[in-house]
Amino acid sequence: MAELGFEVVGVDTDPKKIEQLAAGVLPFHEPGLPELLRKHTTSGRLRFTTSYAEIGPWADIHFIAVGTPQKAGDHAADMTYVDMAVETLASHISRDCVIVGKSTVPVGSARRLSDLIRNTVAGDNTVSLLWNPEFLREGFAVQDTLQPDRLVVGGDDAQAIDLLKEVYGLPLASGTPFISTDLETAELVKAAANAFLATKISFINAFSEVTEHVGGDIRVLADAIGLDNRIGRRFLNAGVGFGGGCLPKDIRALQARVSELGLDRTMRFLTEVDEINLRRRDRVVHLAKEILHDLQGRKIAVLGVAFKPNSDDVRDSPALDVAAQLYNAGADVSVFDPEAMNNARLRFPRLTYSTSAAEALKDSTLTILLTEWEEFRTLDPSAVGETVESKSIIDGRNVLDPIRWQTEGWRFESLGRKS
Ligand code: UGA
Repeated sequence: MAELGFEVVGVDTDPKKIEQLAAGVLPFHEPGLPELLRKHTTSGRLRFTTSYAEIGPWADIHFIAVGTPQKAGDHAADMTYVDMAVETLASHISRDCVIVGKSTVPVGSARRLSDLIRNTVAGDNTVSLLWNPEFLREGFAVQDTLQPDRLVVGGDDAQAIDLLKEVYGLPLASGTPFISTDLETAELVKAAANAFLATKISFINAFSEVTEHVGGDIRVLADAIGLDNRIGRRFLNAGVGFGGGCLPKDIRALQARVSELGLDRTMRFLTEVDEINLRRRDRVVHLAKEILHDLQGRKIAVLGVAFKPNSDDVRDSPALDVAAQLYNAGADVSVFDPEAMNNARLRFPRLTYSTSAAEALKDSTLTILLTEWEEFRTLDPSAVGETVESKSIIDGRNVLDPIRWQTEGWRFESLGRKS
């Protein structure tokens, strides 16, 4: 927002995070963002605070961007943080303004929050709530924010919508489509987008199970169906499946919400989507057992722990899950990831955390690639082969060239091809 030309104050309840941000230090990995943060903390257009009292009387627009994680022991989304942020903000507002929700929420939340705002804001201040779901991808957050492929807004206050259009003036001027709708549709657009992406990945991974069984090549299958424009090739990369802080919890929250509405069967297919996805992790563990017979005490190198490349996020990471399963089965697991080591160590300290891919691979009896960072895609099988105890590799993301590895004497396994 500062880059788009606005004066911005970022609010968080965590003083440590705010201190770091104010000092121009980003508390997570996101390409391109540290540069923007430094640029605008220096230009003075971007400040940080823990104080709602500071922003309540100040801002024209408030964006609510707090998380909606999965509830502990339940599939539903935990709305505690959104509710708390909206209520606290509303109690500090002392002027006309617009609140814009960006968090991914169960359908119906925005209307409930509108009531909460109306009942909380003091005096006769006019405060409208719009819902403007966020579609950015981790690793491409800057690009997706400055040049989004669409903007969706729910709400019926025309003046508030015009104000939001001003905020997005630059992307709109460069042709970004703007879809204006009701609150419920806006909430559902986000849920539907992530459910579709998750389904697309599990669809191709279900075919992986078939090609593995009968003999066939899932990458060729994906390329061939992807050439049909109606299907498209993106999000058809078969492998160890989806993870992260969004797709897994969003498909569960959608099912939970729709069941709550009495539509029990409607989203039931997403249970299958979830199960296919989790079975891919088991498949990697199964392949490791097939190769090593007994995992007890065997040294396995795991390349990647982030849920995807260009991120340090290990939330629901397939890679970290597989590494943990192998460890729990008795293997001595050495992991390396260019960015996610600290986060992984916090979640699963018992793995061996190497300082490089080479260190992880040294004397290993099996190598498993689980996050397709560029440095792993370009590994040289000949050089790597010198340091391992046994030349066996599982390509959990289908990004390596099997012929190249096999020519160098490696046993090569991947997902979606008969071993
Ligand atoms: C996802 C959506 O893509 C964003 O549009 C959305 O805004 C975001 O969630 C959110 O709700 O906040 P993100 O979680 O950053 O973004 O990651 P994706 O790029 O969607 O990847 C998700 C997972 O799917 C990763 O684990 C990735 O490795 C996996 N994946 C992706 C595959 O297994 N195969 C593919 O073909 C593509």
